[in-house]
Amino acid sequence: MQAAIIHQWGNASQFEITEVPKPIAGHGEVLVKISFAALNPIDYKMRNGRFKWFMSRKFPKILGLEASGHIEALGNGVDGLQGGDPVFIHPSKKFRLGCYAQYNTVLASQVFRLPAHFDLLQGSALTVAPVTALQVLRDYGKISKGSTILINGASGSVGLCAVQIAKMMGATIVGVCSSRNIELVQSYGADRVIDYTTTDITQLKEQFDLVFDCVSTLQFKECKNILTPNGQYINLMLRPLDLLWQRMSNPFSNKKFHTVLMAYRPDDIAWVVQKIEQKAFQIPIDAIYPLKDVQAAHEYLESGRAKGKIILDMSIETQALKNKNT
Ligand SMILES: NC(=O)c1ccc[n+]([C@@H]2O[C@H](COP(=O)([O-])OP(=O)(O)OC[C@H]3O[C@@H](n4cnc5c(N)ncnc54)[C@H](OP(=O)(O)O)[C@@H]3O)[C@@H](O)[C@H]2O)c1
Repeated sequence: MQAAIIHQWGNASQFEITEVPKPIAGHGEVLVKISFAALNPIDYKMRNGRFKWFMSRKFPKILGLEASGHIEALGNGVDGLQGGDPVFIHPSKKFRLGCYAQYNTVLASQVFRLPAHFDLLQGSALTVAPVTALQVLRDYGKISKGSTILINGASGSVGLCAVQIAKMMGATIVGVCSSRNIELVQSYGADRVIDYTTTDITQLKEQFDLVFDCVSTLQFKECKNILTPNGQYINLMLRPLDLLWQRMSNPFSNKKFHTVLMAYRPDDIAWVVQKIEQKAFQIPIDAIYPLKDVQAAHEYLESGRAKGKIILDMSIETQALKNKNT
């Protein structure tokens, strides 16, 4: 099978598209033929070695932690799934990864069966961005009708998901992005959009129940003035100093600071799938690249300018290679 592999940590030029053995599903595992794999910012952070202390040192590696496709084969001891089922996979447990390839084996517990005829393109990106946004807004932000929320980084993958979900919850949403993305963020449901290149949001005269800093470019202390008396500041970047600050300040202040890490919960994926089926929600998709262009896809991802998900298409890759070889 074709796969994008890296032989060492480094920049996007590390990727090599090559033929590797198709994996075999072991006990409790499922072999999935991948249609689309979604990129996430954590992928380039893994690629450049930022998480090397948590990952195996074995190379070559195949990155990619979410994808959609069809079940090709089942290992022993797998019940309730069948060959040909359309599925979403999230093989992140113990950094198994492996989605930048035409096939991947995953634990059956990390396979989520999709409804027949579900859009597999949207189906490739069901956890990281939408489930993070859902868990922040519902479980931490406790957003409800009438809540006021400021979403920093509203034009990114998590931001555009958060705008839609906050809207469903009845919140009043102020989105923050640069001028070129204002219309986009409005089109996803923001009530107002502020351009961070011309306005210092920490100096706003209004206050919010939640400041959701998707891109973690703000600081809790500078956001205190724009939080309501019981307001919260939430970011997504695990930084030791932030965690220390949270421990020291949260017990003594009504204004709270949390860093949220997404948890893999099938019920939350089911919620996202249901909302997509009801046409109440869409995965924001910015760009689709064939597997052979994974380097360009990663360079775009790492630029920090994406306006939604970047997806690798395995079928385009197959076609492109066929054309190249004939
Ligand atoms: N903790 C978790 O569980 C978790 C889960 C998911 C994601 N994350 C992290 O959350 C971050 C965002 O993820 P993502 O997928 O949404 O990223 P993304 O899609 O790559 O975000 C790109 C967007 O960020 C905007 N942006 C860049 N600099 C900005 C700034 N200074 N102020 C406001 N907006 C800015 C850009 O808009 P402009 O071009 O207009 O500047 C662009 O549209 C990443 O660091 C990711 O690793 C963490």
